[in-house]
Amino acid sequence: MDLSLKLVAFLLACLFLRKTQIDASTCSDCFTQSRAAYYSSSDEKGTETGACEFGSFGATINGGDVSAASDLYRDGVGCGACYQVRCTNAKYCSDKGVTVVITDSGSSDHTDFILTNHTFSKMGQTTDAGASLLALGVVDIQYRRVSCSYPTHNITIKIDENSNYPHYLAFVIWYQQGNKDITAVQLCETQNFSCKLLDRSHGAVWTISPPPTGELSIRMLLSGSDDGDETWVVPVNNIPQEWKAGATYDTGVQVAL
Ligand SMILES: *[C@@H]1O[C@H](CO)[C@@H](O)[C@H](O)[C@H]1NC(C)=O
Ligand SMILES: *[C@@H]1O[C@H](CO)[C@@H](O)[C@H](O)[C@H]1NC(C)=O
Ligand SMILES: *[C@@H]1O[C@H](CO)[C@@H](O)[C@H](O)[C@H]1NC(C)=O
Repeated sequence: MDLSLKLVAFLLACLFLRKTQIDASTCSDCFTQSRAAYYSSSDEKGTETGACEFGSFGATINGGDVSAASDLYRDGVGCGACYQVRCTNAKYCSDKGVTVVITDSGSSDHTDFILTNHTFSKMGQTTDAGASLLALGVVDIQYRRVSCSYPTHNITIKIDENSNYPHYLAFVIWYQQGNKDITAVQLCETQNFSCKLLDRSHGAVWTISPPPTGELSIRMLLSGSDDGDETWVVPVNNIPQEWKAGATYDTGVQVAL
């Protein structure tokens, strides 16, 4: 090859590389095709009894716009994740759809999401369109992962009622923010910084037996699905030495989106 041909080949290769990079980056915003169904929930609320075990938080989070997930539940790792879900029937469906938080596990008729009935109807352009969607029961949808945002709340630790001080500690993490998963949790003794990894026992519930003693500093590993990026978040507030079953502790941090 003479020099000018080599140069052309090089430039073409660069263009190709650039194009694949662009495709890869825009695809983090891509929607995935699927289906959604609904379950009936009164009072415009979510559910306190979802498999994630969020408790009362599962009923009130995100104004009650919540969903059960099948594959996206991911053995509990998907608990607390937010998705934009919109149905695809142009006659009834709005472009924006709804933003839901995963609080439960469940599947029905090849669906990825089972929304509450009020959330399902919100995918409609109008109340009447929402009623028509409800009448269909199961609809084609598109979804994508989005950041969870709770501007008026810090990440909060809710100690499980079944915890037994000082032998057994279980908790769930409320107001998980951003678009990353919490894939590991550590508790560290603040005196000597010896740390222990917790187990995800089920849903969003983290457990350790026996827990470290003294005032406890919590660390959460946030893992990104697209960029493979991992960050340990270390809140400013500790869990007090004599933590109590049923209590909530504000970690004092929000995760920048
Ligand atoms: C959802 O279902 C409950 C219980 O059946 C019902 O009371 C409520 O009106 C329904 N909401 C909507 C928006 O359809
Ligand atoms: C760290 O300190 C706690 C109490 O302050 C003690 O129980 C524990 O054994 C210590 N751990 C190590 C590894 O020294
Ligand atoms: C969040 O934590 C900060 C301390 O880091 C505190 O000043 C703030 O009031 C907390 N926000 C809420 C909504 O509780």
